[in-house]
Amino acid sequence: MNTPKIDCVLAVTGASGAIYAKTLIEYLYKKGLSVRCLVSNVGEKVWKWEIGRPISEMLPPEIAIYGEDDWRAPVASGSVMAGAMVIIPCSMGTLAAVAQGLAHNIIHRTADVMLKEKRPLILVPRETPLNTIHLENMLRLARAGATILPAMPGFYHRPEKIQDMVDFVVGRILDHLGIEHKLVKPWGE
Ligand SMILES: Cc1cc2nc3c(=O)[nH]c(=O)nc-3n(C[C@H](O)[C@H](O)[C@H](O)COP(=O)(O)O)c2cc1C
Repeated sequence: MNTPKIDCVLAVTGASGAIYAKTLIEYLYKKGLSVRCLVSNVGEKVWKWEIGRPISEMLPPEIAIYGEDDWRAPVASGSVMAGAMVIIPCSMGTLAAVAQGLAHNIIHRTADVMLKEKRPLILVPRETPLNTIHLENMLRLARAGATILPAMPGFYHRPEKIQDMVDFVVGRILDHLGIEHKLVKPWGE
């Protein structure tokens, strides 16, 4: 396999939990990794609602941001190597579209490319409760090689702040990306 030109593609969709995406993007950036960001139309709105400022004003200028209809994004093709993709937070709408192989926007298409090229794809869904359609879509994706990593913080590290709970989930994502971190101490240390 060729060396990835882009280390990680992050897709932000319209599920609640923009703070997870913000924390992960900041962490990858601090690590000096090459990141591209894809944002759905509702993802942009939810980010602004939850964080208080538009995503475009908050990311470092080196991180390119593409809207869901921006087909110029290089990651839309299997010919551009991306090491991994994380959809965070992942709405049930996007999860369903990826599970069904739709490629109606740049996020669905990029996820489809990751699966067909057998590269790591992590989806971080946030919804509760889950209906059988959600569950079947998750199973379909897991069978296709994706990792379903729900935004479900644990409590055994005794979080004191919201950020501690966010760090727990982001730490698990970094574990799956093979990136060392000190966001959460492993159990037993
Ligand atoms: C404030 C807000 C919060 C939402 N939270 C969730 C959520 O947690 N999970 C979810 O699946 N959908 C959630 N939705 C609904 C999705 O945004 C909606 O289904 C949208 O069409 C998803 O499109 P996208 O996946 O292209 O972003 C939320 C919508 C709004 C406005």
